[in-house]
Order: sequence, then C-alpha cells, then structure tokens
Amino acid sequence: MFRYLPEQASKIAPSVDWLHNWITDLSVLFTVAICGAMVYFAIRYRKRDGVDHETPRIEGSNFLEVVWTVVPTLISIWVAYYGIVIYQDMREGENEALVINAVGKQWIWEFQYENGKQTVGEFVVPVNRPVKVVLTATDVLHSFFVPAMRIKKDAVPGHYTSVMFTPVKTGTYHTFCTEYCGTNHSGMLAKLNVVSEAEYERWVNDRSDDLAKLSMTPAKLGAKLYSDKGCVACHSLNGTRLVGPSFLKLYQQDGRKLADGSEVKFDEKFSVEEYIRESILHPAAKVVESYPNGLMPAFDGQLSDGELKGLIAFIKEQDGSAPAQEEEPASEDMTAKLAAMSLEELGQFHYESKACNGCHSLDGSQIVGPSFKGLYGKKGELADGTEYVADDAYIQESIWDPNAKIVKGFQPNLMLQTYKDQLKERDIQGIIAYMKTLQ
Ligand code: CUA
Repeated sequence: MFRYLPEQASKIAPSVDWLHNWITDLSVLFTVAICGAMVYFAIRYRKRDGVDHETPRIEGSNFLEVVWTVVPTLISIWVAYYGIVIYQDMREGENEALVINAVGKQWIWEFQYENGKQTVGEFVVPVNRPVKVVLTATDVLHSFFVPAMRIKKDAVPGHYTSVMFTPVKTGTYHTFCTEYCGTNHSGMLAKLNVVSEAEYERWVNDRSDDLAKLSMTPAKLGAKLYSDKGCVACHSLNGTRLVGPSFLKLYQQDGRKLADGSEVKFDEKFSVEEYIRESILHPAAKVVESYPNGLMPAFDGQLSDGELKGLIAFIKEQDGSAPAQEEEPASEDMTAKLAAMSLEELGQFHYESKACNGCHSLDGSQIVGPSFKGLYGKKGELADGTEYVADDAYIQESIWDPNAKIVKGFQPNLMLQTYKDQLKERDIQGIIAYMKTLQ
C-alpha cells in the first residue's frame, strides 16, 4: 500500500524501500484495526432510544495482555534488526570509497574533491562505485538529502558527519537541503550527476576552467561571466534598454533614481563597488526607477569574491571609451560549422549563444520568461484570456514577434524584438527541435 517512492538509483535503495514498505503496511494495519474497533464499538454500544445499554464489565485477561505486549515487541525488534543490517550494508566499501567533501552554507551546497576541484550546486560521481560524502556546515544546521539514493544526513557546523551510497544508474538526481535553515532554504538545491567511470575521470581532472579563470585579468573574467551567467540577455553594453539597466556608464552614474523615489549617493560609506555588489547579490535591494522588480535572480552564493570583483571591473570598463561592439558578421568558418550541426545542436547553440538561457530555464523554473522544459506542445492561457498551443507556428511567432502572444503571468516588452533578423527558418527549426528534447 502507498508505493509512492522516488526512483531507486542506489544499491541500497531496494532494501530501504522494502523495510520502509513493511513499516508503512504494519502502521496501516494497526491504524485500521485500532480505529476500526473504536468506530465499531462506538456504533455498537451507542445510546439508543434514550436508554443506556450497559456493557458487561470485563476485568483482566492475562492472555490479551501477553499478546499485545509480545507482538509489538517482536515487531519492533524485527524492524530494529533490519534497520541495523541495512545501515551496515550502506556503509559497505567505506575504505575504497570515493570521498567528496560537502559544505552546507546559507544557501548553497559546495563540493570539494580530493584533487582540489571545487564545484557549487552540482557534483559528479562515477556509477557503481561507493561514494562517501563528508558533511559539514559553516553557519547553521542543514541536512543533505538525495532521495533517489535514499540517503539523508545532517550537516552540522563544527562537526563532520558522513553518508555513503553506491549509485547504480547514470543520470541526474536532485539533492535537497531538508532542514529549515532560513529564507532561501527551499532554494538550497544541488544537482547530482552520475556518469560512467571514464567520463568521471575526464571531468574530475579537467581543471581548465579553474586555470583559465586564474590567468585572466579581473575585467576579462567579468566579460566571460557577463556572457556565461546570462547577464547579456538583460543588460546591454551600448545603452539600449533591455530588461534591466544597461551597463554603459553605469559606473559613473551617481544619483540615479530608484523605484521608491530615493537616489543612490556614493560616498565613503556606500561606494559604487558596494552598490554593484549589492545589486548582483540582492537585486531587490535597490531597484532603478521605471524597471520592474523581481525579474533578476539573486546571485547570492553563486559567485566567488574574485568573480564579483571581475564583474565590477568589467562594468567599470564600460565607460563609453570603447566603440560599441557591432555584432560580427558570421565568418565562413562559422557558417560551415552551423550548417554541419544537426537541428537539435543548432537549437542548443542558439539557446546558449543568443543568451536565451538568461530568461528561459531548462528545468521548469520561472525566470523572466516561460521555461523551455515541456514547453513544446503545451497548452495554456494567454494574458488576454485566450488559449494557446505551443506548436511550431506559435514558437516561430514568439521568437520573431515576442509581443504577439504573452503567456498569462508574464510581462510584455521584456524580450528583444530583433530575432527576426538574426534567426532564419532553419534556426527556428533548430530551436524547436531542441525544445522537443526538453520534455
Ligand atoms: Cu540549508 Cu535548509
């Protein structure tokens, strides 16, 4: 009864579920038996026709006492016994396990591998090898929970705890913080990627990203983040108004007006660097006049100090001295490369290079625009109350003329209206093909 458990992706999952189902079934059995008896007696011996029906008074039954003491005791011992056995199975292979350090902090999970590789909000493990996650926390209690692996353990500041699992299938699984730890507790998630041994080796030894970042000047790093993190989708460099304020001459703008009527003043207490930092980490703190609030995701916990300094340096560089960058015409190389791509690849390429990713998520979460996940073929309501079906024609129209149909709950005028010149029929077909893979 009640078999609603998530996918079994670890070696231990079937035994955990087996015991869990037994406990559930026994609980259901006793609940039904006890409450059933209660209801039965309440009806059977109710007061009828204004007359009490007295029940016989029974005192003491050694037989009954023994039965209802011994049976639950045996059941409890049985449950405890299998709990211990399964727990021991869980810790099997501890000595040869791959060790990953995980740190919980408000509100991210940070992972560190033995070779020094670090990731935030995502970790990768090889399939069919025991993994030991050593947990700790920097601020408050968090709890590390990967339902598909059937593991859950507290992360405690000042202590180390650990949890083990052996993944048996490749795939992507959700990791949660499952202990209330403050405002963004519900957003304290991480992605677990289980991959083949070879792919894992390649990934864990690939330090090129770290090295590249280390050798960049702050402004170069900022420029890379500007496109990687999707800032480019909403903040122009040439003064054009997109979803958010342009970065052009932003650094010099003392006294800009805010939505609440106040002005930003820079002085020794509140420097322009502090203003930019705050606006990246907590976008809602100061919203510039005439811009809507709540559209920018908060980057708190997603950028290191070095990365923040890089973005600040990059924004400082946009002082108008560099000629506004024209979009480079596609070189012959590029044209040939694009032509050689399959439709799905082409769609994914545009999704990333045209910065669709800044506003349209792939995992169903709502950013500025509707998520691409499950979008193709979806039916829904538009802002004007009519219905839409996300077929080929609808998607093409939405890219070429974004204001033609606005989905209920979203705002018009936020998406660029220049894609008609940039994306031709085959590009649109590519994006549609890519969307179809995101069901
Ligand atoms: Cu961390 Cu909830």
